Amino acid sequence: MMYIIDSANLDAIRRCVELFPVDGVTTNPTIISREHTSFPELIRSIREIIGDERMFHIQTTGVTAAEIVREAELLKDFVRGNFYIKIPITDEGLKATAELKRRGIKVTETAIFTQQQAMFAAKAGADFVAPYVNRLDNIVSDGVNVVTEIVEMFEKHNISSCKVLAASFKTVEQIHKIAMAGCHAVTINPELFDTLIYHPMTQYAIDDFNADWESVYGKESILDIFEKDK
Ligand code: E4P
Repeated sequence: MMYIIDSANLDAIRRCVELFPVDGVTTNPTIISREHTSFPELIRSIREIIGDERMFHIQTTGVTAAEIVREAELLKDFVRGNFYIKIPITDEGLKATAELKRRGIKVTETAIFTQQQAMFAAKAGADFVAPYVNRLDNIVSDGVNVVTEIVEMFEKHNISSCKVLAASFKTVEQIHKIAMAGCHAVTINPELFDTLIYHPMTQYAIDDFNADWESVYGKESILDIFEKDK
């Protein structure tokens, strides 16, 4: 499964890329606006941090298909590398998706809340669909079930050109359940990357190892011991 950072904060992205197995970055207008800075400078800096090979999904602000296509062309040339234009699913968005596929630009259809929205996006040529798990849970729907059914539906209909990039998460349980459903990718905020690897028993085990080591070797590390013997 691919892990993507859902953030435009440069410090957070730098830290996640350095520490975790990260496959890319997704942004949306809300995430961008939180940084209160120049949009072109921000996306250029994100590309510098993540390199050309990692995916960079940037959301359009265009409304008509023509506007979306123009923005996608412009952003693709500006950020270069492995670029995806994120398009909210609307009728004009689907028209733009089909046109962008003809032009060889990769598309992530976003703001997906139903299985049939996902199917339509895949048929229009989207490379990824992004269903919103926690926002579905918040309206007493079942985000994990919607993602599970999209994954199953694509398998049943032999749709391999479009992958499921689940978005909007609040808990590790949501992430684990959609991983078990065979979802291809998740985009999560930087705090969730830390939560994913944390377990109190792990910290307890590490503290125990350290205490046992120190009871015999004191504060000397393996490196200190070998340095001393040189
Ligand atoms: C990513 O593509 C989505 O825009 C994002 O995950 C939405 O997350 P939120 O529901 O936490 O805002």
